[in-house]
Parts: sequence; C-alpha cells; structure tokens
Amino acid sequence: MTAEVSSGPDVGRAVRVLRRGGLVAFPTETVYGLGADAESDDALARLYAVKGRPTDHPVIVHLGHADRIDEWAGSVSDAARVLTACFWPGPLTVVVPAAGRVSRVATGGLDTVGLRVPDHPVARSLLDAFGGGIAAPSANRFGRVSPTSAGAVTRDLGLDVDLVLDGGPCSVGVESTIVDCTTATPVVLRVGGVTLEDLAGVLDGVPAVGGTTRAPGTLPAHYAPNAAVEVVTPAALADRARRAAAREVRVGVIALASDLVGIDLPDVLVPLARPADVVGYAHDLYRALREADELGLDLVLAVTPPPDGLGVAVADRLGRAAARH
Ligand code: TXA
Ligand code: MG
Repeated sequence: MTAEVSSGPDVGRAVRVLRRGGLVAFPTETVYGLGADAESDDALARLYAVKGRPTDHPVIVHLGHADRIDEWAGSVSDAARVLTACFWPGPLTVVVPAAGRVSRVATGGLDTVGLRVPDHPVARSLLDAFGGGIAAPSANRFGRVSPTSAGAVTRDLGLDVDLVLDGGPCSVGVESTIVDCTTATPVVLRVGGVTLEDLAGVLDGVPAVGGTTRAPGTLPAHYAPNAAVEVVTPAALADRARRAAAREVRVGVIALASDLVGIDLPDVLVPLARPADVVGYAHDLYRALREADELGLDLVLAVTPPPDGLGVAVADRLGRAAARH
C-alpha cells in the first residue's frame, strides 16, 4: 500500500492535511520535501519519527516569500539580506537566529533556524495557501538517497506520508546550499544548488566551506543507496569495471558522456546515467542511485565531474554515498 499521490493542483487538500498535523510530501526545485506545520510540535514529532531522524538534527523551514523572513528570523545579518535578495526563490538555505514562533522541535533545540523560499510552482502555491512555514527535510528515510520524483517518495515512505503532491521530476536534483549567516563572515555548511561561484559573486570572495553545526547532510556517510558506491577516475573505470564483472558483481556506471568517449566498457555494465554536463549530472544523480537499487546492482562506479559549478555538490554527494561502505 502506498499513500495517495495527487497530480492535480490539490493544494487545498494538502493545506487541510497540514492544518490537522499531517505530513505532505511536495516537490521543490532541488528534491522532494516531507512537510509539516513548522509551528506544531506534534506534527514535527511525527515528522522526525517517520524520517527516522535524530531529534537534535534541525530541519529547514520553507516560506512562500522572501519578505516573510522577518517573521521567522530573530534578526537578519547584512549577508543574509544580500544572499536572500539574490537567490530567493531558489536553492539556498540561510541559517539565522530563530524567532520565537519557530518550534524548537524544528530547530533540534537550537536557537537558530534554516530558512528557504523554494522556486517551484507547486511548493509556492502550497506555501501561499498554507500561509505559515512548512518544516521539511528531504522526503526520504534518514541517511538514504533524496527523492527527485513523487514515485521515489512513495516507494521510500509508503503510507507514512498522508499525501504526496506530484510536481514531476525536480529540475536541480541536489539539495539547497546551506549558508550559516550567524557568524561574522558567512560559512557554507552544505554545498548544493547555488554554486560557490554564485556566492562569491555577491559576497566578499569565495566563502569558507565547513562548520560544525548539526547538519546530517554533512555527516561523512549519507545519501547512500544499498549498492556500494565507488568514485573512480575516467582512466581507471574500464579496468575496475572488468575486475568487478569478472567476480560476477552487477555493476552500474554514472559518468559524463565526455568521460566515456573512447572507453571500452564490458557489455554487462548497466549505464545508469550519462549526462552531458554537470547540470545534467546533478539532475540525474539521485535517480540513478535509486535505479541501481531497483535493479539490484551490487556496485555503482561513478566518475566525478570537474570540481566547478554544480560539480562541487555532485562530488560532495558521491563522496558521502561512497563513505557508507
Ligand atoms: O533542498 C533542500 O534543502 C531540501 C528541500 C526539501 O528544501 N531539504 C533538505 O532538508 O535537504 P534536509 O533536512 O534533508 O537537510 C537540511 C539540512 C540538514 O543538514 C540540517 O541539519 C541543516 O539543513 N539545518 C537546518 N537547520 C539548521 C540550523 N539551524 N543550523 C544548522 N544546520 C541546519
Ligand atoms: Mg536529506
């Protein structure tokens, strides 16, 4: 049995589900979110239980419009103002001091909150109609691959989600970039849909990446399918694939099309994704990792894209998926 999936603009029903403390999965431009009323401790408790997430790990609160930030943030630094003016709506989350109305269940007990205005028509009409904030982690069980389609949500969460709004495949495909704006200079906690080059263009130079706040997406092992993931260079790919196939291991490959030119791969290899560029790589990555599990593969060999633009986020996710095994 799976939850009901709504492909029409069933926003009215979704709002009713949220108001009675239920869980609604909805599309954003990055990945699907598992949403709950950000002001309801009970709804949030259920959200954490379904997700299987430790209660001290904060979730992002989604808002319908940038001008709502002052209702949810205790204060907003100049850097946060600049970033939200430039990148909202979009794949950027800012961590700011939390206003009193934000449930401390949503913040994992912290006095800061991650806020984001997503750029997806279904998400925005849901947020507009709901009026309040929607707390939403990615709509997958803790530690697993984030869903980039409604089907992936239902396969992962089943009846634990009350309603799934289907907005088609996510355009970006990796999660938002998270910038901690509570420090004197902003720090990137998670690389994602807004690139470091984008950030450098509006801040004073390239921001630092790191930070020690509780961010599960920054745990060394995360975003992992059941299949083992191994990151390989284009030069090592063919040999590595042949050795694995000789051991009767079922192997899939993800690589830029340009990295596969002239490479002689064994026929038993399953091509999971062959994107034309880093944007396509980000778009295809989670779909490909999920497909590896649906096909029962043992191993995914992934050739990382060049480390610029969205390639940084792709390499980050591949590294964490590989760290699980
Ligand atoms: O693109 C996205 O960000 C998606 C869509 C649904 O918006 N959401 C998402 O949520 O990826 P989640 O829960 O899977 O990852 C949110 C990350 C976590 O690593 C969490 O710890 C961090 O945001 N975060 C949230 N609030 C925070 C805070 N106050 N301080 C530090 N990190 C925070
Ligand atoms: Mg997640």
